[in-house]
Amino acid sequence: MALLKIARLGHPVLLAPAAPVPDPTTPDMRRLVRDMAETMLDANGIGLAAPQIHESLRLFIWREGDAIRAIFNPVLTLGAETATSFEGCLSIPGLRGAVPRATQLTYTGLSPHGEAIAGEAHGLAARVMQHEADHLDGILYLRRMPDLSRLGFTEELARHREDPA
Ligand code: NI
Repeated sequence: MALLKIARLGHPVLLAPAAPVPDPTTPDMRRLVRDMAETMLDANGIGLAAPQIHESLRLFIWREGDAIRAIFNPVLTLGAETATSFEGCLSIPGLRGAVPRATQLTYTGLSPHGEAIAGEAHGLAARVMQHEADHLDGILYLRRMPDLSRLGFTEELARHREDPA
């Protein structure tokens, strides 16, 4: 296992549309998922997309409770209802911003075993999945913010109670 270097805002890999993964079961992909999980935990993140570790592939991982889940070639279908909440990104360290996201979604994709998977997510899990899926299209959360006055350093937002998280 290995800790991977995380690309930061300004690196072009974060703006590029990522390529589909034909076979999630290769040794390289297995190692990539393991290394991404270790990297996400080390960075205290709740989600990580492959382009963030300089691999322009359609793969992300996320935490759901105690489990770490991985999905290849995800397709999300968003519900109509939205809610605005603060989120951060390991590629934009120190900052958080208020982003509207769908509160519910359904998804399809491939598991690390190469099996078709489908499911539904709500609340925080739905938010994390939308954030990570955006990374696969080269979209950072800043572009989803309708009001950039609600962007700030984590410490300052907490100090002024803008972001209760
Ligand atoms: Ni991110």
